[in-house]
Amino acid sequence: MNQAKTLNELWSEGAAFLEDWGLEDARWECRLLLSKLLGLDGVNFLLGLHRPVSDPPTDRLHELLERRKQGEPLQYLIGTVNFMGFEFEVTPDVFIPRPETEILVESLIGRVRLKARDDVSTAIHVLDIGSGCGNIGLSVARLVPQVTVTMMDVSRGAIEVAKRNAVRLGVSQRTHFVEQDVRRGVPLNEGPFDYVVSNPPYIRRNEIPRLMPEVRREPRMALDGGDDGLDFYRVIIERTLPSLNTGGCLAGEIGWGQARAVVKLLALTKGFYRIEVIKDYNGIERVVIAHKI
Ligand SMILES: C[S@@+](CC[C@H](N)C(=O)[O-])C[C@H]1O[C@@H](n2cnc3c(N)ncnc32)[C@H](O)[C@@H]1O
Repeated sequence: MNQAKTLNELWSEGAAFLEDWGLEDARWECRLLLSKLLGLDGVNFLLGLHRPVSDPPTDRLHELLERRKQGEPLQYLIGTVNFMGFEFEVTPDVFIPRPETEILVESLIGRVRLKARDDVSTAIHVLDIGSGCGNIGLSVARLVPQVTVTMMDVSRGAIEVAKRNAVRLGVSQRTHFVEQDVRRGVPLNEGPFDYVVSNPPYIRRNEIPRLMPEVRREPRMALDGGDDGLDFYRVIIERTLPSLNTGGCLAGEIGWGQARAVVKLLALTKGFYRIEVIKDYNGIERVVIAHKI
């Protein structure tokens, strides 16, 4: 009779399988997959290492390891991502939030909190363009109780995921959802806004075939920024300027080497009085914040 394997044995076997395939963080990834399957947090995973694991989770682990080997992103297999300390559901319908996007949220939160402190009774309106799973706008809403946020995305699948995440974070009462293409404008009936934030698609179209295969599993519409990667900045700047309150801010994440071009686009509108560029922890210009005159 086959004896059930212990969690530790399964962990080692799974990690070896992923290591053979050439994955750097094989042990860590296998641990996350097992924790998810068995519903264990970090402490209970370690406490349970010598307990036997029954057949169904073992079979399911083999299936997940195989899918991982085929190049499916770990986050889609686990179904969640940690962002700003909150857990967001992710599915193949959404772009996987990246750690560097926390710089955008932190930069914005600092400004939003100052406004909230100066005027405690006022509601603060935020528009998140290309909201994906909701990681940016919902984090801001969760961290600043005065914020009401409008989440806008052209993808119905993404809007559905973001709706579930709003419930998960307990901010659905202060969140609106608009399924719309930003090229058709921003929802004026929802505005005016104090802050418009976006992490738009910004990869140059001809670079997409050279991206890591895993990244190419993410929705193409979340990546493709047109020929020079700047298509969405042009649209967002033009479309949001009329819907921003005086003194309001437009905050966006930018790709490597795009700061100068985006600052120029903002300056050309003559609608902003101060344009800041913020670097990430690797010293790469990552965020642009423009203050409306
Ligand atoms: C780089 S992802 C960012 C997702 C999320 N905000 C984040 O930071 O992880 C860009 C998002 O823009 C959305 N998008 C692409 N084209 C769009 C359009 N024309 N109008 C509105 N949203 C669009 C995509 O569906 C995707 O969710």
